[in-house]
Amino acid sequence: MPHDFMPGLDGVPAATSSISDVDGQRGVLEYRGINIETLCAQSSFLETSYLLLFGRLPTRPELDRWTSDITHHRRIKFRINDLLKCLPETGHPMDALQAAVAALGMFYPGRQVKDAENNYWSAVRLIAKLPTIVAAWARLRHGNDPIPPQDDLEFSENFLYMLTEQTPHPLWKDIFDDCLILHAEHTMNASTFTGLVTASTLADPYTVVASSIGALKGPLHGGANEEVIQMLREIGSPERARAYVEHKLAGKQKLMGFGHRVYKVKDPRATILQGLCERLFTACGPSPLYAIAVEVERTADDLLRGKGLYPNVDFYSGIIYDQMHIDTDLYTPLFAMARVSGWLAHWLEQLRGNKLFRPDQIYSGEHNRPYTPLTQR
Ligand code: SDX
Repeated sequence: MPHDFMPGLDGVPAATSSISDVDGQRGVLEYRGINIETLCAQSSFLETSYLLLFGRLPTRPELDRWTSDITHHRRIKFRINDLLKCLPETGHPMDALQAAVAALGMFYPGRQVKDAENNYWSAVRLIAKLPTIVAAWARLRHGNDPIPPQDDLEFSENFLYMLTEQTPHPLWKDIFDDCLILHAEHTMNASTFTGLVTASTLADPYTVVASSIGALKGPLHGGANEEVIQMLREIGSPERARAYVEHKLAGKQKLMGFGHRVYKVKDPRATILQGLCERLFTACGPSPLYAIAVEVERTADDLLRGKGLYPNVDFYSGIIYDQMHIDTDLYTPLFAMARVSGWLAHWLEQLRGNKLFRPDQIYSGEHNRPYTPLTQR
């Protein structure tokens, strides 16, 4: 029997990686050795995605080429829009995104894992097109035509524009870009691990990303940000927060946006997102949901601190998106638009020494059972 079997693979290394590191005791997250506080203050999502994929910050010509390539590849085939039009408008955007990304690869022959040049263009297309797919679905499901990408707008500004056809407030695009940086990568999380298992079979990168999108959708992972906003709306006022949290915990229910397999202190991303909330409110006015969230955190701190449960990345992020009038069910697709950089970075890293993921199991069934004929059952 294999020893050290851990439920949920808790603490079990699945790979050696130099892409990011989390110190769960000190609440530190670094991308290629640079902490996220510095990246949010100094960098952009596109520059950060280059750092994640290629291991170092780009020179000016490299960043210009990377930005130009991604800008040039934002458009999606008309038939992807046609595919989205065939989906039920009540469907979840994560399902629409997964379907479109799986189909995307069909348009690019030679998409199998081949060479660095081929893999570069696959990564460019996926980073460039996920926001366009998300924005297209957001409009098509309400019977509106998609707004085409605007080549003269930066990455985050273009996405927000494609949702509303309005140029976003300068503060919005900066804060949204920081949100993308904060969601871009996080060591061996469930959706990254899923992608690596798919990648280990030498499946193409579009299929790898489609499999990661499936894992990210779950409420224990990326789907928590949407659940948090629904929880805050259900609470309705800061005064009702304590009773709500006490009732939830008494019923042994999970408090969405709290807890983490690795962090044993407050997720540093939650702290930065909280600061972004407060910056946003100076320009756009306060959010009633934020006041409720702060009270939930205060109550949870009293009741859960002993269990090492603190806010994670999903607790404050939705409040920012809500202030930007983004539909709640788009929050996890926003997570995917950012995390595709981390998924692709791990995909490229694994290709350099790939081995099929095929773990062992502990068999708990029987042996040598007789076959009972149907007439005797
Ligand atoms: C993300 O891995 C990553 O890096 C993920 C992520 C990334 O960037 O990719 O950081 C993004 O997914 C953040 C997590 C978002 N999910 C949620 O907010 C959902 C609520 N959180 C929980 O489901 C939970 O905290 C997990 C799934 C995040 C982590 O759970 P573990 O490590 O599997 O721990 P567990 O479920 O076994 O819980 C251990 C104990 C249990 O109590 P006991 O049964 O031992 O008495 O802690 C309790 C749990 O009941 N617990 C909670 C809780 N989370 C754990 N109790 C109340 N509320 C919670 N949120």
